[in-house]
Amino acid sequence: MGRIRVLPDQVANQIAAGEVVDRPASVVKELLENALDAGAMRIRVEVEAGGRKLIRIVDDGHGMNRDDALLAFERHATSKLRTADDLLSIATLGFRGEALPSIASVARVTLESCSDGERSGTRVELAGGKILHVDDAVLPRGTTLAVADLFFNTPARRKFLRAESTELAHVTALVTHYALAHPQKHFELLSATHTILSAPPVTRTAERIYQIFGKDTLAALLPVATELPLVRVGLPEPPPWKKDPEEPARDPGSLRLSGFFSKPELQKLNRNSIYIFVNKRLIRDRLLLHAITEAYRNVIPPTSFPVVLLFLEMPPEEVDVNVHPAKTEVRFRQQSLIHDFVRDSLCTALIKARPSAGFLAALEAAPTASASLMPPSTSPIPGAPSADLPQPDSEPAAFQTAKADTEAFELSPRLATPVPGKLPFTAQNLNPGGWQNQQAWGEAAAALFQPAGLPTAGDCSSNPSDTPGTNPAAGTAQVEAEQAAANLNQLGSLRPMGQLRESFILATGDNGLWIIDQHVAHERILFEKILRDRLVEKVQRQRLLMPLLVELKASQMVLFAGIAEELEHNGFEVEPFGPQTLAVKAAPVGLEGAALERMLAEVIEQSTADSDDPTHNHDLKTLSTRIAASIACHSAIKVNTPLDSRRMEWLLSELAKTSHPTSCPHGRPIALLYSWKEIQRAFHRI
Ligand SMILES: Nc1ncnc2c1ncn2[C@@H]1O[C@H](COP(=O)(O)OP(=O)(O)OP(=O)(O)O)[C@@H](O)[C@H]1O
Ligand SMILES: [Mg+2]
Repeated sequence: MGRIRVLPDQVANQIAAGEVVDRPASVVKELLENALDAGAMRIRVEVEAGGRKLIRIVDDGHGMNRDDALLAFERHATSKLRTADDLLSIATLGFRGEALPSIASVARVTLESCSDGERSGTRVELAGGKILHVDDAVLPRGTTLAVADLFFNTPARRKFLRAESTELAHVTALVTHYALAHPQKHFELLSATHTILSAPPVTRTAERIYQIFGKDTLAALLPVATELPLVRVGLPEPPPWKKDPEEPARDPGSLRLSGFFSKPELQKLNRNSIYIFVNKRLIRDRLLLHAITEAYRNVIPPTSFPVVLLFLEMPPEEVDVNVHPAKTEVRFRQQSLIHDFVRDSLCTALIKARPSAGFLAALEAAPTASASLMPPSTSPIPGAPSADLPQPDSEPAAFQTAKADTEAFELSPRLATPVPGKLPFTAQNLNPGGWQNQQAWGEAAAALFQPAGLPTAGDCSSNPSDTPGTNPAAGTAQVEAEQAAANLNQLGSLRPMGQLRESFILATGDNGLWIIDQHVAHERILFEKILRDRLVEKVQRQRLLMPLLVELKASQMVLFAGIAEELEHNGFEVEPFGPQTLAVKAAPVGLEGAALERMLAEVIEQSTADSDDPTHNHDLKTLSTRIAASIACHSAIKVNTPLDSRRMEWLLSELAKTSHPTSCPHGRPIALLYSWKEIQRAFHRI
């Protein structure tokens, strides 16, 4: 007798369950996706004990008749796919016909479903994959699936489940993100004791963000929406004998991107706050993560990550979703096209928005490790590693009460109540030499201390219109108006008033008081100029009177050989001068003496660090931007340098012309706005 045997269905299902179901959140994912595929407009998710004891999902979708309700638990039974050709253009979230049999094989499941036009519904009960009962039942249209005692018959898997609060956090992350992807649908998530999420239908994603995370989160994000018509490149065609000559050529469709991304001031220590949906499917994708990181290159520090909610829509033939059993990965047909589209769309949106950073936001801008939009250490994709963070076994107690749950969704703490008192500078510690224009100071002081059209000193009544509204549409509109008002386009028209300790330029504008870091402002201007000049091989160089000799270690000499050519493109003329010495004969304009030596040492040191890091990408673009950033940093005006008003004006108008006046190439903020509103609040005027 041969050794090979076909496994019984039940065993095959349990094996499949190993790939598809690894925790309560993955059950919720499959059931939510089924409900969405069934066209449900209202989805209610109930969990007990973090989903370990019970997961119940109620939808008002098209439901199933009796035959389908039974077939649904058969392996490879699906209504979403008929032929192998259909696999090339999948428009539904599910298609494998595996989820229900897999879940049913490792839990006790009750399905109740009723489809349109059926007189009665069907109730099916299963345990460990075996059907126990099938009954008729009076039910409303739609489907309810209850999954109890997950992994009751696979104790080894049960052991891998985390604390209830951790599992609940994962479920919450998942439901929240599907709620974000479908703002027009009603989502509810309830635990045994309280409502965790309740999101009635709204019209726009911005309103949904407002509804779930609140005003401050929405204010920290910028919208993006772009479209790229696709050209017909290598799309699968039917063979000539199947082709209908009458049929007009199919429109290849377009690539659409919409969503939200964070202002540079909001930074995270890991990728946990990047959420990508492709055709409304939540996925993890290295290619798109790379495109996003590229868009933020030299805008935020290389060790920080943004918060991004990205919705990519494309014709289903452009994306293969059949590459991962849990359907959390995809493969794009035109990879580089999509990568560049995402990178360029985000980059353009960032350049266009030119968001200004407020003082309070900048104070809180240090990258945080929490997954921001999510409870800490949570990945919205079950089974996907929670990016860079190890997952703690227990969650903070914060996730155990309804109040704490909503607080956990804050991107950043709500703004602190303004402390009454003076602005943190006075006329005495300003640089008197820098005050070229006494009248400007007089005006600014008058504007600060005696604002026209405001309540008089005794009038401390607060403005009721300032409290955030509960209506998402109104709240969203208010946030959008405030964002449009506060961008950096006005930098060029600011009136510089002087310097603070010969290091920061103070300037006034319609929106309030600005403080500009003179060093990083100049650094940004130089950085973008060097990159532009480098493209056309026109970086200006100056000959040194005496060659500058730089000593290197033997290993650094080897690395230097690798970057010598790029240095030359950036205005350097460097030659070996003995086995461990370099002679610098020419350097970019503005870089001299000790600064020149430090700059070279820095670039060589960074290359040494990269050569030790096998994961690092040693591409030319990285090298040239790094060299440009280093030259800019070492030749920019230093702090503690007096500037006359002409210079300050030049600096501001040149900064206004840059693409990213928000931050220096290393990601530090350049200009901070103490907004008129904040000033009035701090002085208890509103
Ligand atoms: N909530 C629901 N409402 C209506 N029909 C449903 C629902 N859930 C499941 N079904 C039906 O049951 C079938 C089997 O579901 P199942 O999740 O096992 O497979 P699938 O969704 O087709 O593919 P996948 O395994 O990729 O999820 C579906 O194809 C669908 O026809
Ligand atoms: Mg499914």
